[in-house]
This record gives sequence, structure tokens and C-alpha cells, in this order.
Amino acid sequence: MESLSKRAQEMGLPMTIEMAKKARELSATGKNVISLSLGEPDFDTPDFIKEAAAQAMVENYTHYMPVPGFLDVRESIAAKFKRDNGIDYTADQIVISTGAKQSLLNIFLALVNPGEEVIIPAPYWVSYMDQAKYCGAEVKVLSTTMEGGFKITADQLEKAITPKSKVLIFSSPNNPCGAIYSKEDLAAIAAVVAKHPNLYIISDEIYELLNYGEVKHVSIASFPEVYNQTITVNGLSKGFAMTGWRVGYIGAPSWIAKACTKFQSNFTSGTNSIAQRACKTAVEADTSSVNYMIEKFASRREKMVGWIKEVPGFELETPPGAFYVFPRITSLLGKKFNGQVLKNSLDVSMYLLEEGLVSTVPGDAFGLPGYIRFSYAAAEAELEEAVKRVKVAVSNLED
Ligand SMILES: Cc1ncc(COP(=O)(O)O)c(C=O)c1O
Repeated sequence: MESLSKRAQEMGLPMTIEMAKKARELSATGKNVISLSLGEPDFDTPDFIKEAAAQAMVENYTHYMPVPGFLDVRESIAAKFKRDNGIDYTADQIVISTGAKQSLLNIFLALVNPGEEVIIPAPYWVSYMDQAKYCGAEVKVLSTTMEGGFKITADQLEKAITPKSKVLIFSSPNNPCGAIYSKEDLAAIAAVVAKHPNLYIISDEIYELLNYGEVKHVSIASFPEVYNQTITVNGLSKGFAMTGWRVGYIGAPSWIAKACTKFQSNFTSGTNSIAQRACKTAVEADTSSVNYMIEKFASRREKMVGWIKEVPGFELETPPGAFYVFPRITSLLGKKFNGQVLKNSLDVSMYLLEEGLVSTVPGDAFGLPGYIRFSYAAAEAELEEAVKRVKVAVSNLED
């Protein structure tokens, strides 16, 4: 008899991964699907980082290592936080994990008791919800709009906070919509959080380097009033095209870092030793070493925004960061294809996959229905062809 735990039954599969799986299944039937549903750079890891990993193997970095990470790598990460983000962390405040995903789970496990509230502005990255719920959190979603730049206001946050509120989590630059909180936005949020000493901020900055210059990236932990209440999450996956290496890290008050280390010591031990040595090289490098990727993303963004804006019924503002566009598609809802009504963004996404052979992710996955996410981490010709197909599919819809 199958007897899965309640925990296992309640854990969902991220819709991003589900959509990618559906796209693969369709491809396996011989269809030429363009997959724009996954969030990973289409570049290979830069050679200078791969060389550092190869050298690490030659030097026999092949043994168990300290659970929070090699001391010298944590020192390099602390130096990166100082150099790029103006935050003072010492090595004992840094924990290196197997991807930012594990960093985030460690933090939720360390901070959230069942019944406490986690505040998540929408649109949010898919795993925040499942990880928070896994820890027994009551999740409070704060909606945003395209007109408001997909950002919560300080006032909205203030009104949402209750004595049970424990964590506010957000990503800036944001996945899925590319929004970036400005210094002024963050100052206003910091002022609210500082009034609630039992509330902690998880600031997910994994898209830090994917910034096209309109809004400067600022770390909320650099505001002294919330330094002791903030955990800064970052990693190598997006900015250095290192998704497969699985390296994420945090800077946090040392009591939180210690608790994260405790979980990690029982669950996975220290992060892969070779990937950690590569991490040292990556975080020590001048960020201009990845400019060639950023420039490419910037040029695709311009094109993608232009093309998407021409699709009838799609509304879009230029996203300042990350590598996604997140158009509103509400005016397509209620339209029909072969008598089937498109009721929500999931239906629109499925329609574009089945009829247009383009895979996207519906806004429902990110807590903001009415939108769909296209990743533009793909070759320009592929993006152009994808939007052409979307246009045709949309023009085939009936009122
Ligand atoms: C906002 C956000 N945070 C964290 C992650 C996880 O990154 P990692 O690959 O380091 O686990 C992702 C990956 O998609 C993401 O989009």
C-alpha cells in the first residue's frame, strides 16, 4: 500500500519545471517546440571559472570540507559583499550551499515556526511558496500591478504586518517580471521593517548582475537599520551561467548562519568542493568579466520587448532586470479556440504550447494570474520565431 507522508503529498512540483517537462514531451513526438519556460542562461560557464575547477581537481580538493564552506571562499564572498553591495559580513556570517535554492530552504527552516507568517509579494519565484509552506508558514501574498512596476509599497507592507509576521521575502531583480527595487523603494521598506524587530527580510539577489542600467541594484542589508534583520541570498547560477554547478550563498546575522549550517550538516554537508573553488574565482573576478553576457541579454531584451508589444492583446513595460518578459494577457481571456474558452493564464500558456509550439509559464505559477512569462535566455532567431508563432496563434483565437 502506498503511504506517502502528508509532507510529500502536499509538496507541489514547480510549474516552471512542469511546463518544461510538457514541452519536452511534445518535442519527443517530433514537434519543433521553442522552450522559453526555464530560467537559465543559454551561455556556457566562462572559461576562467572552468579552469579554476580543473585546477582544484589537480590540487586534490576532493575531500569533505567545512559545512558552511571553505574559510577562504567565505572570505572572498564577504569581500564581494563589501565591494559590490556595501555590506559588512565576516566569514562566520557566510554559508555556501548547494544552490540558492538550498540557501533559501535553510533560512526558512532556521526562522519559521508553524503558524508564523511569511509575506511574499507577487509575482514571486515559485519555490518560495512551497518552501515556506513546507515549514508550516501561513503565507500572505501581496499583489502588485504592472502599473506599479510590480513592486509593493511600504504602506502595503505596513498594513500586512501582524504580530505573527516573521519573514518578508522578495527577489530584486525579480523573477518572473524583472522589476528592481530602487534605493528609495528599499529605504521605505527598510523603515517599515525596522519598526518590527521580530520580522526578517530574505533578500534574494541572485539576478544582481542581470541589470540593464535603468535602476541601480541596491542590497537592503546595506541599510543599517535592517542589517541585523536581513539575510542576503545570492549565487552563481544566473550571473555567471553556472546553474549546473549548484552554488548559492548567504550573508546573515551569525546566529542565523549557524542554524543554516546545522541543517546543512545533517542534510547535505558542505557544497561540492570543486564548485566551491570555482566560486572563489567567480566572486573575486571583476564583474565586467561577464559583461559580454549582460550585453547580449540587453540587446535581446530590447528586441523581445518590441516584438511582444506587437502581439495583439499583450501589454508590457520594459523590465529593468533579469532575463524575462512578463506581459499582461488579460484581454485574451474569454477568447476561444475550437470552442474551448481560455479562462486564465494557464489556459493561455497551454494554448501557446499546443497550438504555437512555444512554451511559457503562466502567471498563476508566480501568484499573479493574468500574465505569462517568456524567458529571453535563448538565441535571438529563436526568440523572433517564437513571437511570430505566438502572433499567429493569437490571431487564430475567436471572440
Ligand atoms: C529568484 C530565484 N531565486 C533563487 C533561484 C535558485 O537558484 P539556484 O540555481 O542557485 O538554486 C532561482 C532560480 O531559478 C531564482 O529564479
